[in-house]
Amino acid sequence: MNTRVCLVAEIALDFTFCVRLFVLDAKELEGEIFAEMRARIKEDDIEIPLREGNYYYYERTLTGKEYTQHCRRLVPIDGPITVHDVMPTGPDAPAEHIILDENVKAEGHDYYNIGALEVSPSGKLVAYAEDTKGDEIYTVFVINAESGQYVGQPLKGITSDIGWAGDDILVYITMDSIFRSDKVWLHNLGSDQSHDICLYHEKDDMFSLGLQASESEQYLFVQSGSADTNFVFYLDLSNQSKELVPLTPRVYGIDTEASHRGNHFYITRRSEEFYNSELVACPLDNITDTTVLIPHRGSVKIQGFQLFENHIAVYERENGVPKVIVYRLPATGESVGQLQGGQAIDFVDPAYAVEPGPSQFHSNVIRFYYSSMRTPHSVFDYDMDTGVSVLKNINTVIGGFNPSNYVTERKWSTASDWTQIPISILYRKDMVKLDGSDPVLLDGYGSYEESVDPGFSGSIFSLVDRGFIYAIAHIRGGGEMGRKWYEDGKLLKKKNTFTDFIACAEYLIEKKYCSRETLCIQGRSAGGLLIGAVLNMRPDLFKAAVAGVPFVDVLTTMLDPTIPLTTGEWEEWGDPKKEEYYYYMKSYSPVDNVKAQEYPHILVTAGLNDPRVMYSEPAKFVAKLRELKTDDNLLLFKCDLGAGHFSKSGRFESLREDAFTYAFILKALGMASQTKACLL
Ligand SMILES: *[C@@H]1O[C@H](CO)[C@@H](O)[C@H](O)[C@H]1NC(C)=O
Ligand SMILES: *[C@@H]1O[C@H](CO)[C@@H](O)[C@H](O)[C@H]1NC(C)=O
Repeated sequence: MNTRVCLVAEIALDFTFCVRLFVLDAKELEGEIFAEMRARIKEDDIEIPLREGNYYYYERTLTGKEYTQHCRRLVPIDGPITVHDVMPTGPDAPAEHIILDENVKAEGHDYYNIGALEVSPSGKLVAYAEDTKGDEIYTVFVINAESGQYVGQPLKGITSDIGWAGDDILVYITMDSIFRSDKVWLHNLGSDQSHDICLYHEKDDMFSLGLQASESEQYLFVQSGSADTNFVFYLDLSNQSKELVPLTPRVYGIDTEASHRGNHFYITRRSEEFYNSELVACPLDNITDTTVLIPHRGSVKIQGFQLFENHIAVYERENGVPKVIVYRLPATGESVGQLQGGQAIDFVDPAYAVEPGPSQFHSNVIRFYYSSMRTPHSVFDYDMDTGVSVLKNINTVIGGFNPSNYVTERKWSTASDWTQIPISILYRKDMVKLDGSDPVLLDGYGSYEESVDPGFSGSIFSLVDRGFIYAIAHIRGGGEMGRKWYEDGKLLKKKNTFTDFIACAEYLIEKKYCSRETLCIQGRSAGGLLIGAVLNMRPDLFKAAVAGVPFVDVLTTMLDPTIPLTTGEWEEWGDPKKEEYYYYMKSYSPVDNVKAQEYPHILVTAGLNDPRVMYSEPAKFVAKLRELKTDDNLLLFKCDLGAGHFSKSGRFESLREDAFTYAFILKALGMASQTKACLL
């Protein structure tokens, strides 16, 4: 890490001295924080297995190893899956088989990521997608699940979207020269990649493709989508002729997503009028004959759904929090009508994150992942008939971690147009004074309709146990409060994202969580754009800022359709070839708005192989700041030479970025020499 920082320093000669000083001073602290973070992780661990066909599948981590082992064991006695199902592991249990050990595959690579691992329908083969640079261009290998031997030649230049269409056919997606997923291919195992059949080519460069198997495992769905529009094709796996059939029409502003159960397709449909989506079903043989299962609601957004033989689980958002509602469905042969009597799964914390886990279609058990800022990642199996919920596992946090030492809150700040903006807050009861003197780290994102739900982060306790209050601003442009929340923070309303964040910062100061002298902010990627923008708008409000792989040269990037993520994002930011968008974008794009003024302490990071935010963007931002800023505060630029958009790939190595960031924040606040994190 130091060589990389020094290398950056060599590029920027004028800054070498400052960087070296920082490295020497904060290096020890960084090492200490890294050691703390690592010590919280239970290094040898095993995931809760998922029963699928004749096997339990699970992942295992080992002491000292960066990556995961993918394992399975035979199911000794068949029988229905229940919430109490436990994989036998005793001496009489079937032996564990390691399908793939990422630690072995990763040897000799600085970066290693498995983007997909799919078991073939018979369970005999496994296809996996591997990226060894961080550039998100994958090579797909097929191996024999038992012997690990390669089957056929690897497929090159693939995305991580792969799916089985039978035991000898793979479907996959490739990208064009601007990293846009544009072609769906069919590959017959054993044949040369050059003979693969292109099933569909999406020529419109605003759209990109995605692939998804139905829970019933009878269909593959291909979606073509932009920010506003999405339509779906299907591949019927039982049909000998492997053709993509259009399911929903390509209509501008209509967004559909589909899955299958019995004699029906189930489809979520969003339009301008039904902006939070409705859920409909149609018979397989007449897709125009739709029945509304859940009508559109202004206050509840349908995020997605998961189908089972006898149930449907609908993932919704209401008032800023995610919800899971389970309905029993009529037998598969019968027609479906509007859904009644849904059962909402209960969650305890005031704000939390919940995500669907992998579940078995032919069971009454839904698995979901739950966490909150103070509740470590938990796996629940929920019996959809009885409502019984069983906690299968809660992640161990080593070192006597006790959730009851911490407080999580959901607060609301008021934006300039009176909109109420949710904020999630975490702190340690016995370490904060709440008199305005506590340090705060405020995080934000606010783009692409992404919801940054307040889940658990082990790393953040290196700050929280040093007396920090950690907060997330759920600003417009994200999806936390439904579709409108997103629409009100994009295109010509993008500045709401920034002013909302400023309103959250001011709220935290007004309510005495912190002061300007103790408020630090951070954001990554589009969140890094947020940080750049608010730094230009209100540099006086913050003590320190971290912009990770920040999208800060918005105008230049969006004017260049030959680079990744431009054409596909004109619906997100606007097309600056149109005058109105050009001037609006120019009025907030961070690189174009750096002024001769005082800025807080700033850390900017980049990844050399990053295809999403090219390293030139943050480099340009830093150069502009160095040229114009009038203060003597720290301004660090750290470019990772062995990674892309997602930093380091190993589970320990990836902590180093957080350790570096937190060391920077502590140094900026003058807390670098203070004692260690409070030990329990
Ligand atoms: C199989 O697919 C072909 C081509 O899409 C279609 O014409 C035919 O009706 C399908 N057969 C069945 C049984 O669905
Ligand atoms: C399909 O459904 C529509 C709407 O209910 C109906 O008008 C049409 O006749 C149906 N088509 C067939 C072939 O059954």
